[in-house]
Amino acid sequence: MIILNFIIVFAVSASKIRSCTEPNTIALTFDDGPFDYTSDLLDELKAANIHATFFINGYNYWHDLESNEEKQAILTRAVNEGHQIASHTWKHEIPANRTDIKPMMKRLDRVIEKATGYRPKYFRAPKGDIDSDTVEFFEDLGYKVIEWDTDTNDWDYKTIGADARVKLVKEFLTKEFAEKRESYLVLMHDVNDHTVHKIVPWIIENAPFDQYKFVTVAECLGDDKETHYDTDGNFIPREGSKVAFNATETAPAENITREADIGQNLQNDVRSGVESSNYIQSFIISTILLAYSLAMFL
Ligand SMILES: *[C@@H]1O[C@H](CO)[C@@H](O)[C@H](O)[C@H]1NC(C)=O
Ligand SMILES: *[C@@H]1O[C@H](CO)[C@@H](O)[C@H](O)[C@H]1NC(C)=O
Ligand SMILES: *[C@@H]1O[C@H](CO)[C@@H](O)[C@H](O)[C@H]1NC(C)=O
Ligand SMILES: [Zn+2]
Repeated sequence: MIILNFIIVFAVSASKIRSCTEPNTIALTFDDGPFDYTSDLLDELKAANIHATFFINGYNYWHDLESNEEKQAILTRAVNEGHQIASHTWKHEIPANRTDIKPMMKRLDRVIEKATGYRPKYFRAPKGDIDSDTVEFFEDLGYKVIEWDTDTNDWDYKTIGADARVKLVKEFLTKEFAEKRESYLVLMHDVNDHTVHKIVPWIIENAPFDQYKFVTVAECLGDDKETHYDTDGNFIPREGSKVAFNATETAPAENITREADIGQNLQNDVRSGVESSNYIQSFIISTILLAYSLAMFL
């Protein structure tokens, strides 16, 4: 009983988000882009009226996203078509030195803000590899740390070949969808030709559209509005952001390579209220459970 309670206490305190909370949702997520195939993916998703989430890097498969407005326009298009842009770190790594994390995150946030009109609130660690101390560190910076519950392993094709991987992913997803789980948070990578041109078209053909809605991660967690902040940390309604956004006019004038955090934590101030109430809630529940375990023990 005591062990069980400690497990519960631990589960309540842990804050990585692995699954959607809204029932009957499928959140497709694509990591490591944008890249050469991302525009094709947007075409497919638009034709199927599916919204997805892109956990992007500033410097990964492409090295010039920060300076290339044509490439940034892909992000603008994605958001205008209902998708969510989220952070996956600047260079697909979390710097080992804590003092380097915030400037690196802000650098990508500024690129995303320039292209989409908002700074991302959602973050996924490269390979999902992040310890709980670092999760807390990112939460203090204002991010929600997202993982997944349905891993396609689409990235793992170099030894078996893309066709063999595609076949395995189809089998895997067929089995997963047959379980009719309440929701799916699916991990894929739009930097793979086969993911964009074979796996996603197959999903569009075969996914249970009649039972599930394809939504962004924010939507599948029931907090759509929280993804859209302007530079002052105010909400921008989704529809409003489409109309109001003009990259050339709203881009912050500050030099993007300069890491002076001007106004950067206006948004954190707004968010910390939400985050700390979560902490307090977890703390209270943990304390009650802990007291209960001790009572059982005595
Ligand atoms: C981390 O970076 C800061 C600032 O560059 C530096 O002062 C500090 O010594 C570094 N810490 C470690 C453990 O390398
Ligand atoms: C964005 O701003 C530019 C330059 O001021 C202007 O020419 C363009 O029409 C604007 N676009 C929208 C969609 O408002
Ligand atoms: C940013 O600042 C650096 C160093 O001062 C400068 O070399 C660079 O040209 C600036 N970039 C922009 C876009 O202003
Ligand atoms: Zn990644």
